[in-house]
Amino acid sequence: MAALTPLLETVALTRTFGGLRAVSAVDFRLTQGEIRAIIGPNGAGKTTLVSMICGRIRPSSGRIVFRGRDITGLPAHARVRLGIVYTFQVISVFGRLSVYENVALAAQRRLMRGPLDRRALHGRAVAARVEAVLDEVGLRVATGVPAASLPYGHQRLLEIAMALALQPSVLVLDEPTQGLAAGEVAALGALLRRIAREATVLLIEHNMQVVLDLSRRVTVMDRGRIIAEGTPREIETNPEVQRVYLGL
Ligand SMILES: Nc1ncnc2c1ncn2[C@@H]1O[C@H](COP(=O)(O)OP(=O)(O)O)[C@@H](O)[C@H]1O
Ligand SMILES: [Mg+2]
Repeated sequence: MAALTPLLETVALTRTFGGLRAVSAVDFRLTQGEIRAIIGPNGAGKTTLVSMICGRIRPSSGRIVFRGRDITGLPAHARVRLGIVYTFQVISVFGRLSVYENVALAAQRRLMRGPLDRRALHGRAVAARVEAVLDEVGLRVATGVPAASLPYGHQRLLEIAMALALQPSVLVLDEPTQGLAAGEVAALGALLRRIAREATVLLIEHNMQVVLDLSRRVTVMDRGRIIAEGTPREIETNPEVQRVYLGL
């Protein structure tokens, strides 16, 4: 069987911080349409790896290839334009803007190229996009509410709505279920599955139930390297993974 051409690939991707190799010569491949989970203990290098993929952190060496094109030197905003969109561990919404305006900012960024014009946030093309993504994440009822006054779980949904407004082909999420209540985790899982019909999803996730439910393949990192990759079942029974998790 011919290997599928990866949508996104890293080649010997490395990042050092001082003497520390946070990510060490990682060859990682993502196939179009999948939901991939990256797991691993704290400090394994997961955030650093996806930050390099998104362009938030520069690699020390190695390459990142997206749809066959070397994007290693592209800044994050240029990658967003190619469809590589991320939401990060720390929630970052504009607290004083309304839910609508937060998503409109993202939609406007996608639809227009010019400088920010707050009036343009209320244009018709933007409105259609904003309403669609607010429906998708279930925040339509909170349209006029200032983002800062949303409960935490809803801020997370807002952040995902902002990412969706950018029409990602690859959506990268760093611990999206962190801090969510059990019911919210389940709802987020269902949302990610819907998103995955249109986009490839790459998520760092600690909640093993979410990982097992969502992803067909799991990548395990430890000390800057990929130590295992496979189906959730293979990963659960992998002795090396058990060793890392049990700290043996
Ligand atoms: N900006 C930074 N400066 C120095 N060290 C960092 C920085 N970012 C991450 N590290 C270190 O790199 C390693 C990997 O971190 P990280 O990628 O955040 O791991 P994970 O997301 O798997 O918990 C850790 O040892 C962390 O302390
Ligand atoms: Mg992290």
